[in-house]
This record gives sequence, C-alpha cells and structure tokens, in this order.
Amino acid sequence: MDTEKILVVDDDLFAREFLAEILAEDNYVVETVGSGKLALTKCREDKQIKIIVLDMNMPEMNGLELIKELNSADFKIPVIILTGSEDISMAVEAISNGASDYLLKGENVQETILHSVRKIVEKEKMKAENLSLMEDLRQNNSKLADLNQKLKEEQDQLEAKVEQRTAALLAAKNIAEKANQAKTEFMSSMSHELRTPMNAVLGFAQILEYEDLTEDQHDSVNEILVAGKHLLELINKVLDLSKIESGHLDVNKHPVSLTAIIKECMLLIRPMAKKYQIKTTDEITPYEDIELHTDKFLLKQVVINLLSNAIKYNKKDGSVTLSFEKLVGRIRIKITDTGRGLTEEQCAKIFQPFERLDAKNSTIEGSGVGLSICKQLVGAMGGLIAIESTPGVGSCFYLELSLTA
Ligand SMILES: Nc1ncnc2c1ncn2[C@@H]1O[C@H](COP(=O)(O)OP(=O)(O)OP(=O)(O)O)[C@@H](O)[C@H]1O
Ligand SMILES: [Mg+2]
Repeated sequence: MDTEKILVVDDDLFAREFLAEILAEDNYVVETVGSGKLALTKCREDKQIKIIVLDMNMPEMNGLELIKELNSADFKIPVIILTGSEDISMAVEAISNGASDYLLKGENVQETILHSVRKIVEKEKMKAENLSLMEDLRQNNSKLADLNQKLKEEQDQLEAKVEQRTAALLAAKNIAEKANQAKTEFMSSMSHELRTPMNAVLGFAQILEYEDLTEDQHDSVNEILVAGKHLLELINKVLDLSKIESGHLDVNKHPVSLTAIIKECMLLIRPMAKKYQIKTTDEITPYEDIELHTDKFLLKQVVINLLSNAIKYNKKDGSVTLSFEKLVGRIRIKITDTGRGLTEEQCAKIFQPFERLDAKNSTIEGSGVGLSICKQLVGAMGGLIAIESTPGVGSCFYLELSLTA
C-alpha cells in the first residue's frame, strides 16, 4: 500500500480539499498548505514529503517561484504542476526548472492527478532501487578492490618467500656440491696415496713367498697376499669411482666389433666361472657381427663387471648367458643368470655405491661399487643400464648403447 506523503499547495481552499480527498482515497498521506511560503516552511520541517502538487497562480509566491526556491535550497522533491490553461507558458518554464509533470485543471483532474502521482511514485521507487543497487555495487566493488589488494599482497609475500627459498636452496646446493667435490678429491688422493705402499706390501710379500719358509709362515704370507690383493682391488675401484665422479674420465670412442669384445670378455671371465662352477655361454655367432662406435675398454669393463656378478651371485651349477638384441637405433646387451634374483626394492638400491645388500654378511668377496661404476661408465658412453629380476629365478642385467653415435 502506498503511504507516500503528498503536499498539496493551493490558495483555493476548495481545490486543496478536493485534491486532498482524491489522494487520500488512493491511500496517500496528504498535507495541505495555502501558499508557496508555507509550502517552503513545510518542506524544511517535514522530510517525509515525497511529492508536491502545486498550483501555479498564487499570491505572494507563485508556483514557479516556489520551484526555484526549492531548487536553490536543494530540495529534490518531485513537483506536479496544476495549472489553468491561461498559465501554460509558466508551466512550461516550471518544467524546464525541474518540475516533474503539469496537469491542466479541468474535468478529468481526478484521473490525471492520480495517474501522474502513481507514475512519480513508481519512478521514485525505481530511482531508490537503482540507488540501492548502485550502493550495493559500490560496496561490492570496494570489497573486490580490498580483496584484490590483499591477494596482491599475499602474492608478493609468496613470491618473496619463493625467492628466499630458491636462494637458500641454491646456497645449500652449492655447499653440497662443494662438499661432494671435496669428498671426491679426498677419496681420489687417499686411494692414490694408499696404492703405492700397498703395492710395496704386496711386492715384498711376493718376494717373501719364494723364501725358505715353514708351512705356517707360508700360510701367513699367503694371507697377506690374499688380503692385500683384495685391498688393492678395493683401492683401485674407489679410485675409479672418484675419477668418474670428478669428471676426469676420458671416453675414447672408436668403431669396434661387438662380437670381438664379447668373445674377449667371455674368455677373460672363464677362470672365474670355472672356480665357481658356473656354465657360461654366449648366443653370438661371428656372422652377425655388429659395429659399435664406443669406448672398447670401458665397454669391456662394464661387461666383465656384470659377468663377474652373474657368476658370484649365482647358485650351485647355475649358468650365465650373454646375448644381444637389436632395437631401433640401439643395441641391447643382456647378461642373464640363474641366481637368486632380486626384489624390486633391492633392484632400486644396487646401483648405489657401497650397497652390497645381504652379500655383506656372506663370504662372497666384493666392495659394493662394481654396479655404481658400471652405471657411471655406461652413462659416460651415452647409454643406459638396467635390471629385470625375479626372486628365486634369476636376473637379467642389460645395457643399451646407441648404434649410430
Ligand atoms: N647378478 C646378481 N644377482 C644377485 N645379486 C646381485 C647381482 N649382481 C649384483 N648383486 C647384488 O648387488 C650388490 C652390488 O653389486 P656390485 O657389483 O655393485 O658390488 P659387489 O659385487 O658386492 O662388489 P664389487 O665392488 O666387487 O663389484 C651385490 O653385493 C649383490 O648383493
Ligand atoms: Mg660386483
């Protein structure tokens, strides 16, 4: 229900009451005054007045003058002009001064006034709604701006943190690299320094072996020789590893015959296979030779390492087979054994230096660096090394090298 307060301004009492009645019937709250001056005072006192229905011709202050006063006092109250036909030009001026509508006093005034008031009420409502929507929008915009600002601040903080962390990580990486380099250099010089006296120990033990010794003394010298050789082997491997790690490994690639290398390796490993009573075979015929462009000595070192493992970690009466497979652009060399096989977890560890799994508790000799050296050497040759293994059945170590480079 509309409860807008309407002020009717007319010097004619009859007209005022007539209009008040019409508007009150339409549920508006109506106030009436008889002059422009009173209307001005009323508007100043009563802020609830939403519409003014205004007569044009009045003594003291006519309708147009009141509109101008209202404008200069910055009252934004919509005004409906009610005028006789003789005042049309004044009404037009009133409209140009901001009046909302003008109506001619006459027969249909009841209908036209209600229509005009309703229109203005509707318009004002929409204006108010628009204003509130604009306010909502403004508030949302300001919230959004706040959020954006916060987001930006958080992003800046995050970026600063990432920068700090990256710098800390870089510093830590540098320290780790330096420490690793220092370790490698230490290992390299230590192994080198150890090798000379070790060779002397072995040399003198060998001379002692030919002296006239008692059986016990002979056994003791033999112990020195066995342990010394093992130690020298270990020193050599550590030296190899540190040489590779420090980047001092030379790779000399030449065209080489794969068959020739494999046959050589099989020959070199035969005494060991005999000692462990393991059957070794290769599935290579001289007719299918393959030319590789690689470092012959490094490749031989890797194959012998893998063959010696396949023999050492085999079971009684087991066997080792060497074969190869041609893939697209690469060759795969496979060393398959009938040993104990390894679990996935064990396979993941064996290429780490000094990792011997449970072999460290066995009588099988080894230092746990063979496979890590193999991995580094194959990497330096531009290839890869991997293992496929089934516990209880055996393992297949394979290396892949490019056929083109
Ligand atoms: N063919 C294999 N079958 C089963 N276990 C193996 C095989 N080859 C290697 N392993 C396991 O992986 C470990 C690491 O092998 P790696 O060759 O690096 O060292 P190692 O043989 O113990 O010593 P070395 O440095 O003398 O070679 C071995 O100790 C052994 O436990
Ligand atoms: Mg080994």
